[in-house]
Amino acid sequence: MSVFNKDSADEFARGARAVIALPEMGGEGRRDADARLDEAAGLAGAIGVEVAERLRFRIRQPRPATLFGKGQVEQIAEAVDREGAELLIVDAPITPIQQKNLETGTKAKVIDRTGLILEIFGERAATAEGRLQVELAHLDYQAGRLVRSWTHLERQRGGFGFLGGPGETQIEADRRLIRDRMAKLKKELDQVTRTRALHRTRRQRAPWPVIALVGYTNAGKSTLFNRVTHADVMAENLLFATLDPTMREVALPGFDKAILSDTVGFISELPTQLVAAFRATLEEVISADLIVHVRDISHPDTDAQRSDVEQVLKEIGAGEAAGQARLEAWNKIDLLDAEEADRVRAEAARREDVVLLSALTGKGVDDLLECAGNHLRKGAKLRTVTLPVGEGEAIAWLHAHGEVVSLHTEGLETIVEVRMSDSDWARFDARRAEA
Ligand code: GTP
Repeated sequence: MSVFNKDSADEFARGARAVIALPEMGGEGRRDADARLDEAAGLAGAIGVEVAERLRFRIRQPRPATLFGKGQVEQIAEAVDREGAELLIVDAPITPIQQKNLETGTKAKVIDRTGLILEIFGERAATAEGRLQVELAHLDYQAGRLVRSWTHLERQRGGFGFLGGPGETQIEADRRLIRDRMAKLKKELDQVTRTRALHRTRRQRAPWPVIALVGYTNAGKSTLFNRVTHADVMAENLLFATLDPTMREVALPGFDKAILSDTVGFISELPTQLVAAFRATLEEVISADLIVHVRDISHPDTDAQRSDVEQVLKEIGAGEAAGQARLEAWNKIDLLDAEEADRVRAEAARREDVVLLSALTGKGVDDLLECAGNHLRKGAKLRTVTLPVGEGEAIAWLHAHGEVVSLHTEGLETIVEVRMSDSDWARFDARRAEA
């Protein structure tokens, strides 16, 4: 279990040197190997590990003992030795046996992609729910590995026909401990999720529209969030700088106020144990009025990243079917060369739901805010409201959220004609019902 214990991360992380080995099995298809290596290096950077060398290997027949072939393991060992690396990162899932054999063969600690992402989630989880989900994911991962190494041991013993050797008893005990802890965590999690749902309903009734930023990891969500809200959210060149949603007020043209919510970045091939943890952080997105999908338009895999994000949004029930407006913010335009920029500009010009920008330089950010405002107002309905005279606050609210077309007083009543979005009308009605 060495590298997966909570304390063990410190043993090798922060400042450790690593070699990354990418096994290419031929099934990766649409993803570029260099981009994958970049992503793995980004993941390593997220826990403070410095990547000394990146290696790619074509795997024709994965070897059960080491995944890589014999010569390949030797090459990895040489690189580890040459670079004085303490850590080998394998950018694929590996079995405990492969991990152990690779550790022996390379004299480095070995961590796989799942382990790496778990470490990052562990470091970054900020809310109670995030932390619980991550611990649960960790335990689930460990339990899976215990089961597998146990069957492996049993197979080794095979044929002797005795049950309950000391190894097995220990593993059984460990598994029971893990199971108990997981049951307890699940209960706590239910409680936290219920509390959060309560808060969300409350916020839904808050009189402002909510805009959720979503996007692939490192697309630039936090940078944009900070620029727009002047908030001090951790924006680093670190993957998963945000695990839990952050909500801030934002000034939107034509609106008194809106709430902007930043979410954790998406990633391809998320380890299954982490899917729930990840989705928990996305619940905010479902109740947003507008989803802004931030894309790194300069990334070689930008289209594949887009479909990953779209897929998850669909799965959690967010999107157009739910009546949510959607915008795409094509970020990092400052990184495009002239030719790419022309192509991207032409493509964006054909679409109403795309804004080009650079969260870093600020170019296009105002356009995004304006476009967001327009989308929120889109489909606005004209209604006439009759209010008792003296309802200054309600009238101010209508002015702030909609377009007041006419207003006059008849006796003790004020009659206002307003054009406003459905969601704002729903909010207005909720306010009136509460008053
Ligand atoms: P996660 O938290 O992993 O989901 O990432 P994120 O989407 O919040 O990305 P973040 O804002 O942390 O940005 C990732 C990196 O991209 C940082 O190094 C940013 O400085 C950089 N970045 C963001 N926007 C731009 C941009 O418009 N241009 C350039 N050149 N870099 C950018």
